[in-house]
Amino acid sequence: MSEARTIPFARPWVEEGDRQAVMAVLKGDVLTHGPQGKALEEEFAAFLGGGAHCVSTSSGMAALHLSYWQLGIGPGDEVLVAAQTHTATAHAVEVVGARPVFVDCDPATGNLTPEGLEAALTPRTRAIGLVHFLGVPCDMEGIMDLARRRDLRVIEDCALAVGSRFGGTHVGLYGDAGCFSFYPVKHLTTGDGGMFITHRAELAAQVHKARGFGVDRTFAERSVPGMYDVPTLGLNYRMSDINAALGRSQLRRVGEVLARRRRNFDHLSGLLAGLPGVSTLGARDERGSNSHYCLCAVLEGDLAGRRDRVIAGLNRRGVGTSIYYPHPVPRLKYYRQKYGYAQGAFPGAERISDQSISLPVGPHLGEEEVEYIGAVFAQVIREEQ
Ligand SMILES: Cc1ncc(COP(=O)(O)O)c(C=O)c1O
Repeated sequence: MSEARTIPFARPWVEEGDRQAVMAVLKGDVLTHGPQGKALEEEFAAFLGGGAHCVSTSSGMAALHLSYWQLGIGPGDEVLVAAQTHTATAHAVEVVGARPVFVDCDPATGNLTPEGLEAALTPRTRAIGLVHFLGVPCDMEGIMDLARRRDLRVIEDCALAVGSRFGGTHVGLYGDAGCFSFYPVKHLTTGDGGMFITHRAELAAQVHKARGFGVDRTFAERSVPGMYDVPTLGLNYRMSDINAALGRSQLRRVGEVLARRRRNFDHLSGLLAGLPGVSTLGARDERGSNSHYCLCAVLEGDLAGRRDRVIAGLNRRGVGTSIYYPHPVPRLKYYRQKYGYAQGAFPGAERISDQSISLPVGPHLGEEEVEYIGAVFAQVIREEQ
C-alpha cells in the first residue's frame, strides 16, 4: 500500500469562479431579494427538465416544512415516513402537527417499497414522506400507483439525489413536492440552502408566497416602493443572493460532479466486491440512475459487532468515514420518548444504522485516493476477521 494520507469523507468543491460569483454580489447593493435567487430557480429547473417549478429556500429542512404545511397536512393526519433517513424528513411532519408512521426499508437499497407502504396504511394516512436513500431513486412507479389509488400526497426528500432519475424523470417530480439540500457536503452547495420543486404550478406559487412572510408582491411587482399586503401566513425561508450566486456557479459543474462520483463509486465498489463479510448498498432497479452520494458498506456476521473498531482502523489510516444515518429515526430520543421504540421493529433500518460505514466517493477523490481507500478497507477487514 502507498504511503499514509488524509482523505476527508467529504469536502465542498469551491473554485475561484465560485468565490468571484459571491464577491460580485457583495460588491453590489442587493444582497437578497435580487436576481440571483430567481436565476438559480430557473437554471435548476432547466437542469431538472420535465416542467419543474422551483422555489429556492434557506435549507432543505425549510423546503420540507413548506411542503407539508402548504399541502395542508396537520393534526389528525398520519404520514408514512422512511425509518432510515435524516431526522429532517420526519421533523417536517412532526412540526406541522401530523403523526409520522415509520416504515422500514428494503435492505438492498435503504429505500421504502410500495409493499411496505401499503402494509402501513390506515384510514388516517394522508401522505408519504420518502427519501431517495444515498441517491438511489425509490420505485416511483409503484409508489405513485399506491398514492393515486389511496389519494395520498407524496413528498420526496431529494437531499442526496441531485441528478437521480427514475424512468428518465428527475426525482422530486413524481410526487407533489421534491426537496433538495445545498448543505456543504451535498452534490451542490450554497453554504446552507435548499430548493422546493414541484410539477404543480399553483403549488409553487403558494410556496413562493409562504416562503416570504405571505406577502402578496415581490419588490419588482410593487408600484409604490414599500407597499404590499399580506393575505396569508408565511415565514422567512428565503435564500439570499449571496448563497444563490454560489449555487449558480456550482450548478455549472454538476455534470462533472456526477461523473466523478459515478467513477469513484464504481471503482470503489469493484475494490470491495468479494470481501468476506462485506456487502454494499446500491441501485438494484435498472429504471433508476444513482447520484452516488457515498458508498455504504454493510458489515455482516461476526464483523457486524466490530463496526466501531473497523471505523477506528480506517480513520487511523487517514480514511474519513461517516454513518448514514446513525439511528433509525424512530430510535432517536425525541421519537423514542414520544412514540416508544421496540428493538427489532425496523430490521432493515437497524442493520444500516448499526452495521454500516459510509465511505467517500465525492469529487475531491482521484483514482489514487480511491485505490488507497479500497486497500485500507481490505486490510482493516482482514485484521478484524
Ligand atoms: C436526507 C436529508 N434530508 C434533509 C436534510 C436537511 O437538509 P438541510 O441541512 O439543508 O436542512 C438532510 C441533511 O442535511 C438530509 O440528509
